[in-house]
Amino acid sequence: MGEFANNSRAIRRAFLDFFASRGHEEVASSSLVPENDPTLLFANAGMNQFKDAFTGKATRHRSRATTAQKCVRAGGKHNDLDNVGRTARHHTFFEMLGNFSFGDYFKEGAITFAHELLTDVFALPIARMVFTIHESDDDAAALWKKISGVPDRQIIRLGDKDNFWAMGETGPCGPCTEIHFHQGDDVPCSEEFAGRKCQGPACDCDRWIEIWNLVFMQFEQREDKSRIALPKPSVDTGMGLERLAAVLGGKRSNYETDLLSPIIAAAAVRAKKTFVPSDYSDGSVSVSLRAIADHARATAFLIADGVFPEKTGREYVLRR
Ligand code: SER
Repeated sequence: MGEFANNSRAIRRAFLDFFASRGHEEVASSSLVPENDPTLLFANAGMNQFKDAFTGKATRHRSRATTAQKCVRAGGKHNDLDNVGRTARHHTFFEMLGNFSFGDYFKEGAITFAHELLTDVFALPIARMVFTIHESDDDAAALWKKISGVPDRQIIRLGDKDNFWAMGETGPCGPCTEIHFHQGDDVPCSEEFAGRKCQGPACDCDRWIEIWNLVFMQFEQREDKSRIALPKPSVDTGMGLERLAAVLGGKRSNYETDLLSPIIAAAAVRAKKTFVPSDYSDGSVSVSLRAIADHARATAFLIADGVFPEKTGREYVLRR
């Protein structure tokens, strides 16, 4: 983990280089304001700018791409606003590292690449990983077993809620497999505080952190609720740079990485307050400092992409 600890720039570069050297075109992040897509308030995933390539409306000269995409999840289907500050891992603004196949490789390629990058390049221990798959996806189960060699207990089947990804009410979608990393059983779990059992990788707590989602794009969700097959099975993946930076730096919180901790430190100095990384209690200064750091990035990047505070739409979200 050495060279990547506290070095998000090196992590981003290593991800893009890994996929570029395996035939992927490195494409720049799109603006946070989606072009020609009235279904989206903000870019919320790396695949947004490739939506038409998945559905077959547009063709690209290369069938593989990789990006580090600016995302804002503060409205619409994917909205993390209310969690910000209260967990170690939620943001309104974050960067999503992704690799994409437009009818090129499918499940085997996606799983092989993910396994190689995480274990060889980033040197993460496979023993601390669990792979969730869609309950119906026997292929994904067999591939994880074959490629990673993990025992069955590290492959968990879950339903649509956890392992079927859709961009929004309409658009490309499909079953997915998520890679979760074990942070430690001593990480607090809100389920346990409430007298219930921690749900492991399916739990909302920070004990297991989802670092990468590999979506096997197979369908297009239509406005009339019908679902049609995509012209070709494709792949859309997304790994949160902030989460990966935390894991590679041996930190239990994204807010302790080089992407966010300097902003927290600056805010704490100005407010004459002390940040306590382990404090997630309601109404605490530390929850507020995390929210300030998150919102400072979101507002800066939104303004840089041409959004200004106003009374409606995305402008109103920025103003809030
Ligand atoms: N689109 C999927 C997600 O956002 C994978 O990138 O999780």
